Amino acid sequence: MGRQRWWWLLTVAVAAVVVGAGAQETCSDIVPAAPRRGAWMSLASFAGGGGGGDGRTLSTAAFQAAVASIERRRAPGGALLYVPPGVWLTGPFNLTSHMTLFLARGAVIRATQDTSSWPLIEPLPSYGRGRELPGGRYMSLIHGNGLQDVVITGENGTIDGQGSAWWDMWKKGTLPFTRPHLVELMNSSDVVISNVVFRDSPFWNIHPVYCSNVVIRNVTVLAPHDSPNTDGIDPDSSTNVCIEDCYISTGDDLIAIKSGWDEYGVAYGRPSSHITIRRITGSSPFAGFAVGSETSGGVEHVLAEHLNFFSSGFGIHIKTNTGRGGFIRNVTVSDVTLDSVRYGLRIAGDVGGHPDDRYDRNAVPVVDSLTIKNVQGQNIREAGSIKGIATSAFSRICLSNVKLNGGAPVRPWKCEAVSGAALDVQPSPCTELTSTSGMSFCTNSL
Ligand SMILES: *[C@@H]1O[C@H](CO)[C@@H](O)[C@H](O)[C@H]1NC(C)=O
Ligand SMILES: *[C@@H]1O[C@H](CO)[C@@H](O)[C@H](O)[C@H]1NC(C)=O
Ligand SMILES: *[C@@H]1O[C@H](CO)[C@@H](O)[C@H](O)[C@H]1NC(C)=O
Ligand SMILES: *[C@@H]1O[C@H](CO)[C@@H](O)[C@H](O)[C@H]1NC(C)=O
Ligand SMILES: *[C@@H]1O[C@H](CO)[C@@H](O)[C@H](O)[C@H]1NC(C)=O
Repeated sequence: MGRQRWWWLLTVAVAAVVVGAGAQETCSDIVPAAPRRGAWMSLASFAGGGGGGDGRTLSTAAFQAAVASIERRRAPGGALLYVPPGVWLTGPFNLTSHMTLFLARGAVIRATQDTSSWPLIEPLPSYGRGRELPGGRYMSLIHGNGLQDVVITGENGTIDGQGSAWWDMWKKGTLPFTRPHLVELMNSSDVVISNVVFRDSPFWNIHPVYCSNVVIRNVTVLAPHDSPNTDGIDPDSSTNVCIEDCYISTGDDLIAIKSGWDEYGVAYGRPSSHITIRRITGSSPFAGFAVGSETSGGVEHVLAEHLNFFSSGFGIHIKTNTGRGGFIRNVTVSDVTLDSVRYGLRIAGDVGGHPDDRYDRNAVPVVDSLTIKNVQGQNIREAGSIKGIATSAFSRICLSNVKLNGGAPVRPWKCEAVSGAALDVQPSPCTELTSTSGMSFCTNSL
């Protein structure tokens, strides 16, 4: 064999191995690649006579002017707004369509703690009021409504909510309205959020609501475990959402799929569907992966896989309530490792409060076809509980290859108003899940 041919064969073999190893699934087919942006501008050129990026001068007007200029210019392919290294203190601002917000390495967009510079916006129609308090709610730090083709990315720059001022108001009961998110995009499509760090959000971190085609990948989300309601990523009444390769450690659920609240969510009727979540690592005093409890528009066609949670309250928490209505169906959670988690799994029909007392007591949610498979847990305290609603038993709940171990014997499963099947489950499953008839919905060949 000629030397060249030998090299060629070796190259092909190495390439095959590399491609094989790299052939893990990704979110890349969810959103078309953003076009090459026809314009590039730096936030510094909108910051006036210096002072921007010093951590003290307020840059709200600079962000707003930069976004307005992108909107006016309508450059072919849109525009990129470059946030240079430095600490850019700002109040909330809107994004626009066809733009990339790019945070350089060492760039920090830091939210002002002066709550008077946070505008109030309307409550979401699917919630009927602010999530925490009646009335409107504070606009998110970075906000967008009705946009297409929006990218937030960079070189691991930081979006810092300085949430402690808000957490204190919450703890003291002096909060006048519902706290703001770090990023909220409403009614928007083709959204990518990647390669940035979210820190200390006042409330939920990243909230896509009424959106489609959303990719969130390779982000870090951090907040102290004792910070109230700092959910990591909450896809809400949104479709085609893909979240992958994130590290999230906060004070509430790391990822929670939602779709509106009681009678308001039922009336709005907008489900969350086709949600893919993979390769998420992190820690929460509440749940690693959650659905609910606001699921009144329905949640379906969810796949969450390759999850790795440690030092957490719940591994997986699927939660709803009477009055929610809606449904949770066709949810698969697979390939999960848990370490030092209090409850491996909880599926519950009695979680979360109501927006007001006008909710419909007959609006019971339908929960059907949930598959939890290939879960390995160590240092687990309780296997968990699966409790449906007496008038709406949860059906086709499948646990397959779920092995939960503990330092002490793991406390057993608790089940009520539920039917389904269990294969290879430790500790041994509750009798509600041991029916052997018609369990084609639950096999461990997958
Ligand atoms: C943000 O955009 C909305 C329209 O979606 C507008 O009503 C609001 O005034 C804008 N807010 C700021 C602070 O620019
Ligand atoms: C959603 O945004 C689109 C523009 O993309 C707009 O035409 C539509 O009216 C918006 N819907 C709502 C409910 O605001
Ligand atoms: C993830 O983000 C970091 C910076 O935050 C970057 O260095 C790295 O290349 C990114 N990885 C991928 C696969 O995009
Ligand atoms: C990005 O920043 C986070 C938080 O500081 C850090 O944990 C992570 O390692 C950084 N990633 C890269 C690729 O620099
Ligand atoms: C269940 O959801 C998955 C996406 O996670 C989808 O591919 C599949 O078609 C759905 N199955 C049914 C029966 O709708």
